[in-house]
Amino acid sequence: MSISAQHQNRERFDAIAAGWDDNPTRRALATGVAEAIAAAVPLQADWQALEYGCGTGLVGAALAPKLAGLLACDVSPGMLAVLEQKAHAAGLDHLHTRVLDLTSEVPPAERFELIFSSMTMHHIPDVTALVRTFHSMLKPRGWLALADLDTEDGSFHGGDAVGVMHQGFDRAALQADLRAAGFSETHARTAHTVAKTAADGRVNHYPVFLITARA
Ligand SMILES: C[S@@+](CC[C@H](N)C(=O)[O-])C[C@H]1O[C@@H](n2cnc3c(N)ncnc32)[C@H](O)[C@@H]1O
Repeated sequence: MSISAQHQNRERFDAIAAGWDDNPTRRALATGVAEAIAAAVPLQADWQALEYGCGTGLVGAALAPKLAGLLACDVSPGMLAVLEQKAHAAGLDHLHTRVLDLTSEVPPAERFELIFSSMTMHHIPDVTALVRTFHSMLKPRGWLALADLDTEDGSFHGGDAVGVMHQGFDRAALQADLRAAGFSETHARTAHTVAKTAADGRVNHYPVFLITARA
């Protein structure tokens, strides 16, 4: 990602970090994704996992109790600071945070049983390159779990589209990208559906997929 796009994302999410968890729509979405991951992936108490684009950890903090360790990564130090406070208050000592942007930095040396990400892929310009990087960071037969919007008309973010690189994704195309990156056993299902009321009063529905795959 260009340095300016990276800074745009960082500044935008730093600015809204403190109020992120106040939005019930976001909380419901994250709960739906966390439940879908827990249903689809046989989480193990000895697993090390990485969450990419964790934000304030709405998904990761829900899954962390089922894991041995969670490295929660995000480009925004502000989002991570909120997560650190929550993790400390909840006694999640095995949850660690790291400022990381895999679009411009080398991946960490650690290898993981699980990498998961929710609502972050639409901020990534080159998704094909990132899923290749995820593959290299997983242990053999490790799990990848990606949640994001199905293809939409741009109304999901509306005028608030800073840093939005994709208007959702086609599930079949993303699974093909994963297979090209070396993943197998790709499977897509709907994790949650977001309902948003438009300016004209109409309620739009935005399905959120969860795609799982094995390295
Ligand atoms: C829509 S928020 C989702 C946050 C969280 N996953 C949730 O469900 O509440 C997108 C997150 O991706 C992060 N992000 C955007 N671009 C990123 C990048 N290149 N690398 C890492 N994180 C990124 C943002 O800082 C933000 O926290």
